[in-house]
Amino acid sequence: MTFASSKLSQKFAKPLTIGNVILKSRVLQSPLSGVTDLVFRRLVRRYAPDSMLYTEMISATDLHHMKALPKLMEIDRHETPISIQLFDCRPDFLAEAAQKAAAEGADTVDINMGCPVNKITKKGGGSSLLRQPELAAQIVRSVVAAVDIPVTVKTRIGWDDTEITILDFAKRMEDAGAKMITVHARTRSQGYTGTAKWEWIRQVKEVLTIPVIANGDIFSVDAAIACLEQTGADGVMCSRGTLGYPFLVGEVDHFIKTGEYLPKPTAIECLQVAKEHLQGLWEYKGMRGIRQSRKHMAWYAKGFVGAAALRDRLFRVESVQDGIDCLDQEIAQLADYQANHQGVNYQGTFGAIAPEDMAEMIAMQ
Ligand SMILES: Cc1cc2nc3c(=O)[nH]c(=O)nc-3n(C[C@H](O)[C@H](O)[C@H](O)COP(=O)(O)O)c2cc1C
Repeated sequence: MTFASSKLSQKFAKPLTIGNVILKSRVLQSPLSGVTDLVFRRLVRRYAPDSMLYTEMISATDLHHMKALPKLMEIDRHETPISIQLFDCRPDFLAEAAQKAAAEGADTVDINMGCPVNKITKKGGGSSLLRQPELAAQIVRSVVAAVDIPVTVKTRIGWDDTEITILDFAKRMEDAGAKMITVHARTRSQGYTGTAKWEWIRQVKEVLTIPVIANGDIFSVDAAIACLEQTGADGVMCSRGTLGYPFLVGEVDHFIKTGEYLPKPTAIECLQVAKEHLQGLWEYKGMRGIRQSRKHMAWYAKGFVGAAALRDRLFRVESVQDGIDCLDQEIAQLADYQANHQGVNYQGTFGAIAPEDMAEMIAMQ
């Protein structure tokens, strides 16, 4: 049986409905702090025109005290479907922030109840809400009452292995009015280590009626399909697999829609996109964008002869021209190498970053 004739493909031929928002894709790009800014989202959007994208998470308390909206919250009117993600523990501030998100043109507002970072959990936000389910439900109720757009929640399976509370928690979120839940199938104490426990997503799916999105360890088309098959989830969210690889969401979406794999981008194509990313960050954020670009550039420079040396150079760039020169040189060398080595094909050496390389790369942030 081909994928196109499978049950999964028939189920996925129907749109994903989040409250009154209808999506033509069941593959989503996760919110990633320090990554999913307007520049990165534009690249993802090019390859995944129908997928829901997310902003980086934004503190509702910070928003409350700011006179102007931060760049983090800026969305392009053309980038729909787009969700603005908020975090906090104050229902009133979150309601106010959600109204600002809706006014900016967000299609949905997502509440982060999964971030494991101490700075966030100590203040009662992110995954610490898993330990305060009544407050979490109150937050959802308060935000739902404040806006007309659907309110969604992104969370983890529990605090640690002794406290896996997702089944009760997810039901409470649905009862409070959440229109979709994304489950990152790790505990808070796992951080980003170990494997995602997809079996919990299957159980969440069994107790909820709202769409359940599976998240965790989706580094390839095959992983996405395996996850969807094993969990019965309504959609899948790609995350670290998109770092330095804005093609992944589009690749998964294409496979789900056609049953065919898209050809992998060549190393040269990846570096061309890296150049656009760098240029975009420079235009959008100036020198801060250049500093932020270093980690992105290192993520792109992977999977070909000379990648390690390129990463090293890119990690030290001081100006946009520096970076463009480095990338142009590498592109010329790769083209030259290919011309002189008939039959050598870089396709397939590229792909989402392997999980084992990720810890080091995240540490670069
Ligand atoms: C650098 C980084 C930043 C992240 N920022 C956010 C964020 O702002 N909001 C959020 O809900 N999750 C955030 N996450 C979690 C991811 O969205 C996702 O849930 C997690 O990486 C699991 O998926 P994966 O195993 O496929 O990477 C972040 C993860 C990483 C690695």
